[in-house]
Amino acid sequence: MARGKIAIIGSGLIGGSWAMIFLSKGYNVSMFDVDEVQLAAAQKKIPENLKRFESQGNLRGEISADEQIKLITFTSDFAECIKDAIYVQECVPEKLELKRKIFEDLDKLCTDDMILASSASCIASSRFNYGLKHAKNMLIVHPVNPPYFVPLVEIIPSDQTRPEIVTKTRQLMEEVGQAPITLKKEIIGFALNRIQYAILNECWNMVQADLLNAEDIDRVMVHGLGMRYAFIGPLETMHLNAEGIVNYCDRYAAGALKVSETFQPPPLYDIPTAEKLNEYFSEHIPLEKLEERRKWRDECLAKLAKLKKEIPK
Ligand SMILES: NC(=O)c1ccc[n+]([C@@H]2O[C@H](COP(=O)([O-])OP(=O)(O)OC[C@H]3O[C@@H](n4cnc5c(N)ncnc54)[C@H](O)[C@@H]3O)[C@@H](O)[C@H]2O)c1
Ligand SMILES: *[C@@H]1O[C@H](CO)[C@@H](O)[C@H](O)[C@H]1NC(C)=O
Repeated sequence: MARGKIAIIGSGLIGGSWAMIFLSKGYNVSMFDVDEVQLAAAQKKIPENLKRFESQGNLRGEISADEQIKLITFTSDFAECIKDAIYVQECVPEKLELKRKIFEDLDKLCTDDMILASSASCIASSRFNYGLKHAKNMLIVHPVNPPYFVPLVEIIPSDQTRPEIVTKTRQLMEEVGQAPITLKKEIIGFALNRIQYAILNECWNMVQADLLNAEDIDRVMVHGLGMRYAFIGPLETMHLNAEGIVNYCDRYAAGALKVSETFQPPPLYDIPTAEKLNEYFSEHIPLEKLEERRKWRDECLAKLAKLKKEIPK
C-alpha cells in the first residue's frame, strides 16, 4: 500500500499528533527536529501512544499500531526529511523568525508540487512567504488541540497560494480523517480563535461584573451549548430552533440585538481576574493534576469521536 511520504518539521506536541494522524492511513512519515533530545523523546513517545490508543480501542485507522510504527522514521537531517515528500507539515514554535527560516530552507529544497503547510496558530503565511519562489505552495493548516481526537483543521491560503494546492490539501485532510474548513482569505485569529475569543470575552466580562462564578460559567458550555454544538453548529441551531433560519430571524433578531447591545468592549484577560478564577481551579484541578485531567479530556473526546462516527449524519 504505497502511499506518499509526509515530512514533519518539529517533533513536539503538534508534530507528534500530525505524525500519528498520517500514520493511521498508511502514509510514510519522516520526522525532523533540531533538538536531538526532543527527537529521541518523540521516537519513544509516538510508538507508546499508538500502543496505548490501540489497547484503549482509540487507535485511528484500519492498520495495527505495529504496522503504523513501521512507517515512521526520525532524522536530524533536514534535507533527508524533505526528500521525496508530497506534503510537509511545519510544527516548530510560534515565532515569526523561526517560521521564516524554515520556509526559506524549504523554498530551496522543495519541488514544484510539494505542499508546504504550517501549523501556525496566529501567524498568517503572508508574513513569512514574501520573496520566496515557492510562496504559491505555502499555506496555513492549523489543527486544534488535541488533533488526534479533535478533527477540525483550518486551511488558510495567502493571496499567493495556488488554488490547486488548497484543493489538494483539503482532499488530503479529508482522506486522513480530519475535518477541514477553508478560509477564503487571511484574517487575524482565523475562524476558530475569533469565535473562541468572542465566547471567552463574554465569560470574562460576566466574571468581572460578578454575575456568576467560574464553575457555573463553564457549566453553560458543558451542560448547555456544548451539548448541541458537538452535533449542530450555531447557525443550524437557529434553523432548528424555529421554522427555519428566516423564521428564527423574524422572531428573535430584535431580542438578540437588544442583548448584544449590552455587551462590554473586549476585555484584557487581566491577572487579578485570573487570580480570582484560580481560587476555584487551584482547589478543583491543582497544577499537579493537570496531566491527569488532560488524559481524562482526551478519553472523553475519543469517546465522543466514536459516538459521532456511529450516529448516521
Ligand atoms: N499546542 C497547541 O495547542 C497548538 C494547537 C494548534 C497549533 N499549534 C501550533 O503548532 C506549532 C507547534 O506547537 P507545539 O505545541 O507542538 O510546540 P512544541 O514546543 O511542543 O514543539 C516544537 C518543536 O519544534 C522543535 N524546533 C524548534 N526549532 C526548530 C527548528 N528550527 N527546526 C525543527 N524543529 C524545531 C522543538 O525542538 C520542539 O520539539 C506552533 O506554531 C503552535 O502555535 C499549537
Ligand atoms: C515506507 O515504509 C515502509 C515500511 O518501513 C518501507 O518498506 C518503505 O520503503 C517506505 N516507503 C517510502 C517511500 O519511504
